Amino acid sequence: MNHQLKQLAESFAAEAQKAASLDDVARLEVTYLGRKAGKLTEVLRNLKNVPVAERKAVGPAANQLKQTIEKKIARLRVSLAVGPAADLDLTVPGIRPPDGHLHLVTKAIREITDIFQRLGFYRVSYPEVDWDWYAFEALNMPPDHPARDEWETFFIDTKAVGPKGQRLFTPHSTSGTARELEQRPPLRSINITKCYRRQIDASHVPMFHQFDGLLVDENVTIAELKGTLDYFFKQFFGPERRVRIRPYHFQFTEPSFEVDVSCSICNTKGCKVCKAGWLELGGAGMVHPNVLKAGKIDPKKYSGFAFGWGVERSYLMKANLNIPDIRILYQNDLRFLEQF
Ligand code: DAH
Repeated sequence: MNHQLKQLAESFAAEAQKAASLDDVARLEVTYLGRKAGKLTEVLRNLKNVPVAERKAVGPAANQLKQTIEKKIARLRVSLAVGPAADLDLTVPGIRPPDGHLHLVTKAIREITDIFQRLGFYRVSYPEVDWDWYAFEALNMPPDHPARDEWETFFIDTKAVGPKGQRLFTPHSTSGTARELEQRPPLRSINITKCYRRQIDASHVPMFHQFDGLLVDENVTIAELKGTLDYFFKQFFGPERRVRIRPYHFQFTEPSFEVDVSCSICNTKGCKVCKAGWLELGGAGMVHPNVLKAGKIDPKKYSGFAFGWGVERSYLMKANLNIPDIRILYQNDLRFLEQF
């Protein structure tokens, strides 16, 4: 029996060497491994008639030969399909996998962080799920204050669950500023975080990003606020851009301002995009004494400024992207994302 296996192995090796086409290989496979009358298949089928003592040695040897033949056939198929090694040109450039890139919101966050770091601000990342205290009360908005309505907040708890009230998805990054105020001055932080509001339409998404800057020290004035904003705008939007602050109202700053950037299309002359020459970006002001006190900072000794607005909005304005629907930022459509 062993003798028969040896003969099979030899004749297979000889025929395999002669195989010159894929058809030859297919024929070889049928001859040895064919299910009906393959030479090796017959041997394996007849094993049950072999005396037990002999079967113990022959069985494994027959299976081993089967594996050897299968491997050789597979290898022959590959080499005959690819062609002789001489045809293989290793200098042909490979196929480059597609390059990915960061999402444009991530790019914007990195760029904003970088600009403020150059002015000596340090980046902080305060929670996106926080207490009512930090989102409202510490910011001079006691329970039931009507100013809270503007923030369209998602609450986690239906009523207060501790001394800091209910938990909520923070509707603005200024809650991080309230937390930063618990540190000892001088402070120069930039908090960038996810924010949530119950709003969805062409210009709002329920999850978005804001950045909130804070500087607290002795003798801080509006002049420094304006200088800081001016530096940021020129770095972020380009050297020809100008900044304007307009009186406004926020509960947590006094005085408060809205911040506008000059329109890059008409350079403040007024056009279809900006209407009056300026584009509104966000809020700013001098930190309200009650807000300093909530952080246990003495308003007689220290003063400070704060500012904050949306990352997405800033980025779209920077690129002069007249995008009709901001939701496209989060739809993960490659036709849009690959343009950045
Ligand atoms: N948190 C405000 C908002 O979401 C924006 C803002 C205004 C932030 C004035 C500030 C500030 O830090 O000083 O609309």
